[in-house]
Amino acid sequence: MRIALGVTGGVAAYKAAELVRLLQDRGLDVQVIMTRNACQFVRPLTFAALSGHRVITEMFGEEGREANVESAIEHIAVAESLDALLVAPATADVVAKIAHGLADDFLTTLVLATRAPLIVAPAMNVNMWESAATRHNIAVLRERGVRVVEPEAGPLACGMTGPGRLASLEAITAAVLAALGIAGDLKGETILVTAGRTEEPLDAVRYLANRSSGKMGYAVAEAGRRRGARVILVSGPTHLEAPAGVQIERVRTAEEMAEAVLRHAGEASVVVMAAAVADFRPAEVDSGKIKRGNGPPILRLEPTRDILAEISPRRRPGQLIVGFAAETDHVVENAAAKLRQKNLDLVVANDVTQAGAGFDVDTNIVTLVFPDGTVKPLAKMSKLEVAARILDEVAAIRARTAPREVAG
Ligand code: CTP
Repeated sequence: MRIALGVTGGVAAYKAAELVRLLQDRGLDVQVIMTRNACQFVRPLTFAALSGHRVITEMFGEEGREANVESAIEHIAVAESLDALLVAPATADVVAKIAHGLADDFLTTLVLATRAPLIVAPAMNVNMWESAATRHNIAVLRERGVRVVEPEAGPLACGMTGPGRLASLEAITAAVLAALGIAGDLKGETILVTAGRTEEPLDAVRYLANRSSGKMGYAVAEAGRRRGARVILVSGPTHLEAPAGVQIERVRTAEEMAEAVLRHAGEASVVVMAAAVADFRPAEVDSGKIKRGNGPPILRLEPTRDILAEISPRRRPGQLIVGFAAETDHVVENAAAKLRQKNLDLVVANDVTQAGAGFDVDTNIVTLVFPDGTVKPLAKMSKLEVAARILDEVAAIRARTAPREVAG
């Protein structure tokens, strides 16, 4: 995987050299980009030697040389090739520029041009960190889905003491690995994921279904596997390919899905119910094809099994259950009600009426709702990134609670 490390002009810039090493140790290819001010603190040659790549310092090729077409569009090529973009250390100035969408050098242009996840590790004087402007800018970054690795408190280069020191290089590396979904922090977990829709037959050729494509559940399965978990994916009908390394069981109806989930629930330490299960099915199924000539039939429906409601009372000690809530109104209230009724550890709520959320798109806009009443709205992001955030929460809950008691 390829990441870009943007180094900006702060005293902590020298620490970025060690960061290159740590990231490489995790198998990442690192392209370093330095702002002009960063070059005042550390020479680009240091980073070039460590990373094995030319360090990008200028928007239009090297200083003193005439710009050419390649250098003028290089930021687009780099932007497209990245799996993640890290800015460390990030000065108050670069944080402000990112928050406002300014693009006056290579790094800030790259931030706008890339769709890869962005991780920002600020380092600055304590008063600058606590200033109203920086507080606001950091909040804006977070709202947009940027991962901010908070600075630590301690003695600062300016002689003052307080928060502002660059976070530990281990914490920054962990944030990058989490953004890439390769943290390995779910090793030993068995995650049971449901995905896609169910189809409830009406006759030999027709069925009732909903619009779910399965993309969200498949993203959770993929993200779980990348983080070291064993993953069992119970999938309704979909055109998606099974993620490599995931045990898949394909089902069609709610009844088949319920049966598969209950069969595997005993092995699972984490259950993520992303499937859009049909709530009703035709009460009578015609084994042939219902003919037009007989006039429009009146359909009588009956409820399907509520799989989530069945597994939650049987949960094993330490088993975490994550539900989804597809809503069209009162999203958080409805999701919180589902969380309470079904005794869940987390509900991922999405307003399926919003553009860029819900069915058959690659992005989602969700709000995470927790049993203690905490509500975390996430920005619009790719379903793989949403999956990473859900699993971040699973890992955090696991870290807070007793060690796993469910056998893998
Ligand atoms: N779910 C389930 N079995 C069902 C229906 C839903 O396991 N028969 C799960 C879904 O996978 C999801 C959660 O329950 O994790 C909530 O699904 P949703 O359709 O949002 O809610 P419902 O419980 O069906 O309630 P309502 O239709 O009233 O919103």
